[in-house]
Amino acid sequence: MITAKTRNVVVVGAQWGDEGKGKLVDWLTESAQGVVRFQGGHNAGHTLVINGVRTALHLVPSGIMRSGVKCYIGNGVVLSAAKLFEEIEALEKAGVELRSRLRVSEACPLILPFHAALDVAREAARKKGGQAIIGTTGRGIGPAYEDKIARRALRVQDLKYPERFAGKLHELLDLHNHVLVTYLGSAAFDFGPTLAPYMAAGKVLFEPVFEEAMRHAKLLKPMMADVSRELNEAHFKGANLLFEGAQGTLLDVDHGTYPYVTSSNCVAGNAAAGAGVGPGLLHYILGITKAYCTRVGGGPFPTELQWEVPGTPGYHMSTVGFETGVTTGRSRRCGWFDGALLKRSAQVNGLSGLCITKLDVLDGLKELKLCTGYQLDGQLTEILPMGADDIERCTAVYETMAGWSESTVGVTQFDKLPTNARLYLQRIEQVTGVPIHMVSTGPDREQTIVLRHPYLAD
Ligand code: GDP
Ligand code: IMO
Ligand code: MG
Repeated sequence: MITAKTRNVVVVGAQWGDEGKGKLVDWLTESAQGVVRFQGGHNAGHTLVINGVRTALHLVPSGIMRSGVKCYIGNGVVLSAAKLFEEIEALEKAGVELRSRLRVSEACPLILPFHAALDVAREAARKKGGQAIIGTTGRGIGPAYEDKIARRALRVQDLKYPERFAGKLHELLDLHNHVLVTYLGSAAFDFGPTLAPYMAAGKVLFEPVFEEAMRHAKLLKPMMADVSRELNEAHFKGANLLFEGAQGTLLDVDHGTYPYVTSSNCVAGNAAAGAGVGPGLLHYILGITKAYCTRVGGGPFPTELQWEVPGTPGYHMSTVGFETGVTTGRSRRCGWFDGALLKRSAQVNGLSGLCITKLDVLDGLKELKLCTGYQLDGQLTEILPMGADDIERCTAVYETMAGWSESTVGVTQFDKLPTNARLYLQRIEQVTGVPIHMVSTGPDREQTIVLRHPYLAD
């Protein structure tokens, strides 16, 4: 039997996304030789701060800022080649060499302009019909996964064969233009400047989509790879791998607040299927969670606060935490830490340890509330129920804890944290049942406390 002494770590968001995964992936890459994205697409926005310099990534794995590290986009990702090259060019302008280090799975389904058009038109049609919107990022993520599951997607490998690509594209446009125009009434919608070059009278045109795809095909060819094979080979040659989750557990299409979710599985188990490795290669699962809670877009949020009212704890979180989305620029909704939600997350991911981020944002709040369960239909429940309808009816049950007035910004040792901050973290451990292995006290790489290193912990 082949054995390897290497260790692989999975990083997942334990809430509704934007927990600080990018920062932690960049930090952990110091101990890894390969970083892999395994689901989602450019709906993700991961921010890295290195010596005060900020980099926002959407598709390129957050390991890219460490030279020599290989970065992989696994088959589970839905890929917009246009967005990928936009990001690659921006990174190159900033002096990051990456084309030789980036490998893209040939099995990735492509996101093309008609996916974004469908996404935007559906949300607009919902709004027009008086229905609640999902609040998607409008990037075409849902429609692209639908094509994958319906077994009609154009994949990265199709880009190598122009005729085959053209044939499939005609078929897809036939179907999707029919839905856009006849069912959604898209001729009446404004698709904005990004989609305008591809559209006329609510339909997506063949020529501009095809021509752009063929341009991207040439650029992408050197990066196309059998990512599954390369990851397995790297592992058995002794590389430590890092699997970078996007979105968060409560946005998972099965385990999240359905239907207010994204269209992929964001949980740790999907790191295996979405990258093409066996689940036995996932040795340690790090759940990233803020010390409070945020969510962008629609859907239930049991611990939500009035985050738009000055002078309130929610407003404090929103403003001190700069809670504005990296991808769409929307404000993130803010609320208290939800321990019962974290229990669901711990369960569906099999979390080995937690990293609590943005502890510093709570500095100066007189008291903190921590949700330990909910009242639902007159009964106490200690774990987040499944699906939006039940979650909507939950009333959060809180414990109140004293806050701290000292600054925790940039603290790198647990013992140097204020007593009340340590008590708050210890209570989170008790309520969630998951040990805290890391704490983040600022956006910068260096502003990090390590209690147990994920690449060294058992
Ligand atoms: P991701 O999507 O999970 O990678 O998270 P985002 O990058 O979308 O959002 C997290 C935001 O919080 C980014 O602006 C980070 O720079 C910032 N951040 C991460 N960790 C900390 C922290 O411990 N303290 C503070 N103040 N900001 C942090
Ligand atoms: P990262 O990786 C926060 C949310 C959207 C919307 C829902 C569905 O930065 O944590 P979609 O476009 O995926 O169909 O939208 O999911 N959403 C995110 N929220 N962080 C993200 O990514 C998100 N990606 C999608 O706001 O509510
Ligand atoms: Mg984000």
